[in-house]
Order: sequence, then structure tokens, then C-alpha cells
Amino acid sequence: MKFGRNKPCWCGSGIKYKHCHEAFDRQIKHIELQGHVVPTHEMIKTREQVELIKKSAVINRACLDAVDEAIHIGMTTQEIEDIVYETTTSMGGIPAPLNYEGFPKCTCTSVNSQVCHGIPSKKVVLKDGDILNVDCSTILDGYFSDSSRMYMVGNVSEQKKRLVKVARECVQKGLEATKPWGFLGDMAEAVHKHAEANGYSIVREIGGHGVGIEFHEDPWVSYVSNAGEDMLIVPGMMFTIEPMVNMGRADIFTDEENGWEVYTKDGKPSAQWEIQIYITEDGPEVICW
Ligand code: MF3
Ligand code: CO
Repeated sequence: MKFGRNKPCWCGSGIKYKHCHEAFDRQIKHIELQGHVVPTHEMIKTREQVELIKKSAVINRACLDAVDEAIHIGMTTQEIEDIVYETTTSMGGIPAPLNYEGFPKCTCTSVNSQVCHGIPSKKVVLKDGDILNVDCSTILDGYFSDSSRMYMVGNVSEQKKRLVKVARECVQKGLEATKPWGFLGDMAEAVHKHAEANGYSIVREIGGHGVGIEFHEDPWVSYVSNAGEDMLIVPGMMFTIEPMVNMGRADIFTDEENGWEVYTKDGKPSAQWEIQIYITEDGPEVICW
């Protein structure tokens, strides 16, 4: 054991290791020896960090609320970008997507058959009946928040309304299946079973992620795996639940011209809601939604 039992715990609590995370580490080791993938110490966030991440989340939610207030037929996705930029910077934050791996804007606006990473543009004008995902991520004092919501423009068809509703329920079901000392696969199974029961499919290639200290941290989070699979969930972890739910088939492609915008292959609509959660001893706490 690297940590002396009487030395301060690796988590930064200042408490002796033997009174802090020793039993926790042993339990993880035990589960690892049973053949499971387990989290590293880098994935464990302290309460102090969580409080700072929550402050970032206040801005992120304000952005999504502001979009909700403003959205209307005839609006361009560039106008959504401007709202997110104004809201974030006026509250002291930095939009995390801007220049992230070359992403050109502050937010992702994904309309109808766009699955994710839609690039805001003056040329994309919202029409009556459109559905879209607006995905915001904020940096405040170095701490990251990330969440997204669906928006409906004007009169939306019953079919699309149902997709948006079921996509939201998928996140809720996933949240309910997320438990400390359970597995990410338990959550994933709850998500994809609900989508499939409604005749929909879940995108396989793009998943969720750890978040908080960086924009995208380990683990990578699948929504197509099954109960008992993937990484062990332990208290202190923080990650997103953000399944992309397709009305038709799961297959997707990326626009080669910009290298970002992802579409459904069959051209049918896709919907996504994203929440950021923190795992406590008692279950998940929603940090950003
Ligand atoms: N916010 C997205 C997520 O949920 C990521 C967008 S990547 C970007 O992980 F580069 F487009 F910002
Ligand atoms: Co995310």
C-alpha cells in the first residue's frame, strides 16, 4: 500500500488514511479482483471541488433557461450562440466548447436529425415543428459543468414530442439505476431498455464522460451496455448521463466538411438530454441539468 495508514488520506481530507479511504480502497480492490473495471483515485472528487463545480453549474443552467425564454420560430442558431455567450460571460464564466479541440463556437445546437455537435450558424433558421438540443458547458474558476436540454419550436408533431419525452425519461430511468457500488452498465441498461421499449435506438459511438476538473474525463460512459458491465460506480465520482435517442436506427455519420456535426444515417430525428451527476454514499446528486 502506497499510503501509510497513519499518513493523511490521498483524498485531501486531512484525515488519517486508516480513518478515511482505506476501507473504500479495499472494497474497490476486492471488486477489481472479481474481474471488474474500477475507478482510479483521480476520478474521486472532494466536497470542496463539488461546491465549486456547482457554482459553474449555476451559469450553465442560466444559459439553458435563457435559451428557453428566447426560443421562437425564425430565430437562428447563431442567436442561441449569442445568448449563451452573453449569459456565460456576464456571470464570469467561460464557454467550455469554444476552441475545444477546434470547435468553433460556445455551444452545440443540434436540430432534428442532427444527433450532436451542431454548429450554431446564421444560416440555420428554426422552423415551425423543429426540435433541437442545446448543449452548454461552462468553466468557472477552472471547474466544469455540462448539461443539455431539448427545445420544441412552434407546433411539433406528436411523433417528435414523444421522442423528446422518451429521451428525457431515459435519463430519469438511468438516474434511478445509478447506485454507489453498482456499475455503469446498470444505468446503461435502464437507458437503452426504455428507448427500445418505445421503438427507438441509442447511439453507440458517442457516450458520456467524467467531468468537473476537466471537460471530458474518464470514464467514457456507454448507454448500450448491460447491467453489471462497465466501470464500478463509487462515491465521489462525477459523470454525465446523456444518451442520444434516435427515432429510427442507431447509425450515424459525421459531416466531413466541418468534422463535427453528427447526423442520423436514416435522416430521422434524434433527441438528447444531458445531466451531470455526483455520486454520494446515498445515491446520485444531480449537479447540472
Ligand atoms: N457538451 C458536449 C458533451 O456533452 C461536448 C461538446 S464537444 C464540443 O460532452 F467540442 F463540441 F464542445
Ligand atoms: Co457531456
